[in-house]
Amino acid sequence: MANSRHPFFGTKLGFYLAAIGSAFGLGNLWRFPYVVAENGGGAFVLIYLFLTFVIGMPFLISELILGKLSRSSVASALLKLAGERYQANDIRNREKIPAWVHFVLRHLGKVSLAITILVLAYYSVICGWVLHFFVRLLVSTVSPEAFQPEATLRVLLDNGWLQVLLTSVHLLVVGVIVAKDLEEGLEKWLGYCMPIFGLLLLILAIESISLDSTLDALRFLFYPDFTKLNASSLAQAIGHVLFTLSVGFGTMVTFGSYLRDKVYLPIAGFRVAILDFVISLWAGVMIFPLVMFSGTQMHGPDLLFQAVPRLVKQLSGGHWFGVGFFLCLYLAALGASIGLLEPVVANLRELRRIPRMAGTIWAVGLCFVASIIPALSSNVLKNVRWGGKGVLEILDAGIVNWILPVVALLVAQAVAWLVKRELTEAEFITPESPTSLKLYRHWLFVLKYVATPIVVIALLLQVLQLF
Ligand code: PHE
Repeated sequence: MANSRHPFFGTKLGFYLAAIGSAFGLGNLWRFPYVVAENGGGAFVLIYLFLTFVIGMPFLISELILGKLSRSSVASALLKLAGERYQANDIRNREKIPAWVHFVLRHLGKVSLAITILVLAYYSVICGWVLHFFVRLLVSTVSPEAFQPEATLRVLLDNGWLQVLLTSVHLLVVGVIVAKDLEEGLEKWLGYCMPIFGLLLLILAIESISLDSTLDALRFLFYPDFTKLNASSLAQAIGHVLFTLSVGFGTMVTFGSYLRDKVYLPIAGFRVAILDFVISLWAGVMIFPLVMFSGTQMHGPDLLFQAVPRLVKQLSGGHWFGVGFFLCLYLAALGASIGLLEPVVANLRELRRIPRMAGTIWAVGLCFVASIIPALSSNVLKNVRWGGKGVLEILDAGIVNWILPVVALLVAQAVAWLVKRELTEAEFITPESPTSLKLYRHWLFVLKYVATPIVVIALLLQVLQLF
């Protein structure tokens, strides 16, 4: 069956498009501003920078390595490490592992798969919001005065079924792309979307930097006031770094498994991490002047959806700014959604031995069902609140700040402790990079002895914050 053959990226560029396309997304443009706003600005950005390199990048490299060596997605790769699945070139460094490690390896992949489905579910709800604003703005091109920012947001938030509908449109679009072969679907579409996204981001940022509020926004973003941090800020920063780099979801393991041998993974990981960091900052420099100029309150997941539509009214040429903004947002969100759906499909294909099409239908169906609850968060379920947060925010914070750091840490530890040393070492050492033994040792040291205490301390501090 042609469908059950293991897929590969057609080119190196295809891999970069997939990895970068999945890293850039609502995480940079929607989540980053609201998390930074809730944690007081500059100090949080500094911690985020530090963690990108100490946790995000090393974890990202280990997931790529796991995928490439095992030629499987996260659930099967971990089963191979547990000795539950056969692989001709065994990647394990020992045959006997303690019973608890075996237990963790058997279930960790499934937990990662479950959080990917849940994240795609609420991510798609937000993508639906983006679609709503984009279409509303586009339709009002004939008479821009008719566009009412507050009313457009209210209609959306009050109407759960409209959100369910928009979510399903988005999931359908992503499903159609992912159902195709890798080269025809993901690689081709990201090849179209990413350059347009980059160009739009550049134009929009230039436009927003010319607002009067830019200096205040820059101060907020870059002046570190550590008194504004709280006990859960560290865990929030770790969660956000992992979320925005698509680490802990199995995405990078799957992309690693599609790689042919030529890509040098440490550099690939470095490039993706640094680009993603720069895009986040760039997005911050673009979005905070808008938020401040429009006088929007700096909190909550609808921060962006309040600020930008208001500006459409306040700026000259605001209408086209709005159309461009939501198009840019949608393109980024589409690439990231592909990066979320692809590993779900790949894991289902491998675990259930089904073709890509069937895997996609199952994955989209599951995500759709799971998306109904967050879609009803701002209306039918609006009275379900905990600590001032609604259902969608609880889901986002619960997964990203609590479960994701644990899952990502465990996957990285599995690579560091259980994969044959000569295999991981060979990913760092090539004839062109003779100094990389040092790099390899640093990577392993950071994974084993630096990342673990940081994540554990962050989670403990976060527990304290609950009381
Ligand atoms: N990294 C994406 C973003 O920043 C979200 C994402 C997470 C995409 C996991 C794929 C996998 O929006």
